[in-house]
Amino acid sequence: MSTMQVYKGLDGIYVDESSICEIDGDRGELYYCGINVKDLARNGTFEETAYLLWHGRLPTQKELDAFSYRLIRNREIPKSLYKFLILFPEDASPIDFMKTAVSYMSSVDKSHEDQSIEAQRRRSNELLARLPLLVAAFHRSRNGHNMIESSRKLGHAANLLYIITGEKPEPEAARALDRYLILLAEHGLNASTFSARVTSSTQSDFFSGVASALGTLKGPLHGGANEDVMKLLLKIEELENVKPVVEDMLAEGKRIPGFGHRVYKVEDPRSVALREFNEEFHSHTRGYHWYDMAKKVEEVVRSKPKFQEKNLYPNVDFYSAPLLYSVGIPLDLFTPMFAVARAAGYSAHLIEQYKNNRLIRPRESYVGPRNLPYVPIDEREEVETQPSY
Ligand SMILES: CC(C)(COP(=O)(O)OP(=O)(O)OC[C@H]1O[C@@H](n2cnc3c(N)ncnc32)[C@H](O)[C@@H]1OP(=O)(O)O)[C@@H](O)C(=O)NCCC(=O)NCCS
Repeated sequence: MSTMQVYKGLDGIYVDESSICEIDGDRGELYYCGINVKDLARNGTFEETAYLLWHGRLPTQKELDAFSYRLIRNREIPKSLYKFLILFPEDASPIDFMKTAVSYMSSVDKSHEDQSIEAQRRRSNELLARLPLLVAAFHRSRNGHNMIESSRKLGHAANLLYIITGEKPEPEAARALDRYLILLAEHGLNASTFSARVTSSTQSDFFSGVASALGTLKGPLHGGANEDVMKLLLKIEELENVKPVVEDMLAEGKRIPGFGHRVYKVEDPRSVALREFNEEFHSHTRGYHWYDMAKKVEEVVRSKPKFQEKNLYPNVDFYSAPLLYSVGIPLDLFTPMFAVARAAGYSAHLIEQYKNNRLIRPRESYVGPRNLPYVPIDEREEVETQPSY
C-alpha cells in the first residue's frame, strides 16, 4: 500500500516561482506583472499587454511603436501552410487546424537552433501575429471565401475582426474584442499553459510547446467552455425559457458551462470586467438580447443552494460568450479566440521556462498489483473477451 500523499489534479500545488501572473482566488483579483487586469483592460491595449507579459513592464511609446510595427510586419503565414489548409477537412474543428498549423511552424522555423531569449521573443511575436491569420484563413476557406489581406492601419483586435468578417469593424466592436483579448491573455499555470511548460522543459522547441497548449485548451473543462455557454444561450433562445432549461440541466446532473473555477472562490474578476464591457458595448449597439439572457441564466443558477454552498460563480467564459457573439465572432471560433489571446501568456511562460529550466517530471503513487509471475501465454486463463486493440 502506498503511503504517498496524492494531489489529484495538482490541486493547490505550487511547482515553480513566476513573475508573470498573480491570482488571488480568495479576493477575486488578477494581476499581470503586478498590474490589476481590470485597469489594463479598461485603459490599455492587447499589444501593450503582450509586451508587459514578455518583458515584465509596460512599454514606453517608442517601444510600443516598434513592437506593434513588428507585429504588423509578421502578419503573414508561410505559403506552404496554404497547401495544408486545402488538405484539412472543411468540417474539422478550427482549433484543430490551429494546433496542427502551429506544430508545422516548428518545421519551417529557419533559426530553430537559436534558443536565446531574443529568439523566443521573436517567435512569440510571429505567433501572436500569425494566429489570427490562421483562424481567418481556415474560416474563410471553409466558406469558399478568399483570404482578406490584413490592414496595416488596424490594431491587433480590429484587424482580427476585419480578416474574419471581411468588414472594417466599428471602433466599439474592436475595443470590446481588444478588452476580451487582454482579459484572456494570461492566467498562471492553467492546464494549457502548464502543458506548454512541460513540453518546453524537455528543451523541445517553442512551437511544440504552443501546439501542446492548444491541444489542452480545446477541452470543454478549459477553453471549450465559452462555446458551450453560447450554445446554451442559443438553445434557451428567449428569456422565459431560461428557468426551465437551467432547471432541467441541473435535474439531469449536468454542469452549467461558464460556472465554477478551480482557483476562484469568489467571482472571477474577469467575469466582473466582462459584465462591465458587455454593458458598455451593448449600450452602443442596443442589442442586449444575448447579454440579458446571460444575466438571467446567472440569476437562476446563482439562486440554487448548491451554487452558493460550493462558491460556483460565473467564470471568464460565461460573459465572454455574449460579447464574442455580439461583435460577430462565429460560434466555433470562440475557442480559437481564447487561443489568440492566451498566445501572449503561453509565450511569456515559455520565455520564463527557457530562462530557468528544470525538467518537469512529477510522480504518481502506484496502486496496482505487485510481484506477479510472468505466465506463459498458453497457460493463461480465459478471461472475458477483450477487444483486440
Ligand atoms: C472549471 C471546473 C472544471 C473546475 O473544476 P474543479 O475545481 O475540479 O471542481 P469539481 O469538478 O471538483 O467540482 C466541485 C463541485 O462543484 C460542482 N460543479 C463545479 N462546476 C459546476 C458547474 N459548472 N455546474 C454544476 N456543478 C458544478 C461539481 O459537480 C462538484 O460537486 P460535488 O462536490 O457535489 O461533486 C468546473 O467548475 C466546471 O466543470 N465548470 C464548467 C466548465 C467551465 O466553465 N470551464 C471553464 C473554466 S474557466
